[in-house]
Amino acid sequence: MNDDREIALVTGAARGIGLATARRLLEDGFHVVMVDRNEEPLAASAAALRETSNAVEHEALSITDRAAVAALVARLPRIDVLVNNAAIFWDGKFDTATEADFKAMYDVNVVGTFVMSQEAAKVMQRGGRIVNVASRAYLAGYAHSAYITSKAGVIGLTRSMAIDLAERGILVNAIAPGLIETDMFRSLTPERQQELIAKQPTKTVGQPEDIANGIAFFASPRTKNVTGQILTLDGGRSMGIAIY
Ligand SMILES: NC(=O)c1ccc[n+]([C@@H]2O[C@H](COP(=O)([O-])OP(=O)(O)OC[C@H]3O[C@@H](n4cnc5c(N)ncnc54)[C@H](O)[C@@H]3O)[C@@H](O)[C@H]2O)c1
Repeated sequence: MNDDREIALVTGAARGIGLATARRLLEDGFHVVMVDRNEEPLAASAAALRETSNAVEHEALSITDRAAVAALVARLPRIDVLVNNAAIFWDGKFDTATEADFKAMYDVNVVGTFVMSQEAAKVMQRGGRIVNVASRAYLAGYAHSAYITSKAGVIGLTRSMAIDLAERGILVNAIAPGLIETDMFRSLTPERQQELIAKQPTKTVGQPEDIANGIAFFASPRTKNVTGQILTLDGGRSMGIAIY
């Protein structure tokens, strides 16, 4: 890693939105560090990106493993951008959700984001950018109580980090994706997928590249003086049903 590109670390980069983000940030001129707990697909995705550029590193770890995260950060010359994209999700109605569901999603989606951000922020210089991937679901949604609660936590964390890190010149923002066609979405039954698409004002499902585009805006060194903001990319769903 001896080029003079800015360094962007992307979590959950083995597939889906994280992989699309790693690809986009590479195109935008960053040296990209891809992180995921799933080693084999991560290595395969990193190898695919290296076909176009060698400015790609990868590291298999869980974002909840403080020691592994700290060791990675210590090996990097610096971090300019952190994209906290890794998360877990499953469908489940409130009546049948368990404490284990709540604890597992909180541990990865909120505490993992906190651990990554705290370790990265230790070495970030003035002008650093942190982008958290939340979800439009933080507003509300059907049969997602544990996930929604964790993503509302990500929004709270984003805004509190934005305030606490502002005096160090580090910008912290979040993306709130709506329905996006990834393995997470494909894990739902076909009936549930159709039900969700029908609720979209656009009647479309977004693509990972659409979210990567929003992340690229907050990650760009040209985006200054913006912090604590939530950019919702959801086919208009967050406008509510009042317009239909
Ligand atoms: N797909 C959607 O419709 C949608 C909608 C709204 C928000 N989101 C959010 O976008 C982000 C990416 O979603 P996706 O659909 O690409 O997900 P995905 O499940 O396809 O990919 C998530 C990646 O994160 C990794 N990961 C999970 N836990 C980890 C951990 N503890 N440490 C390191 N890596 C871990 C997984 O191995 C996986 O490769 C998530 O934060 C998700 O909540 C997705």
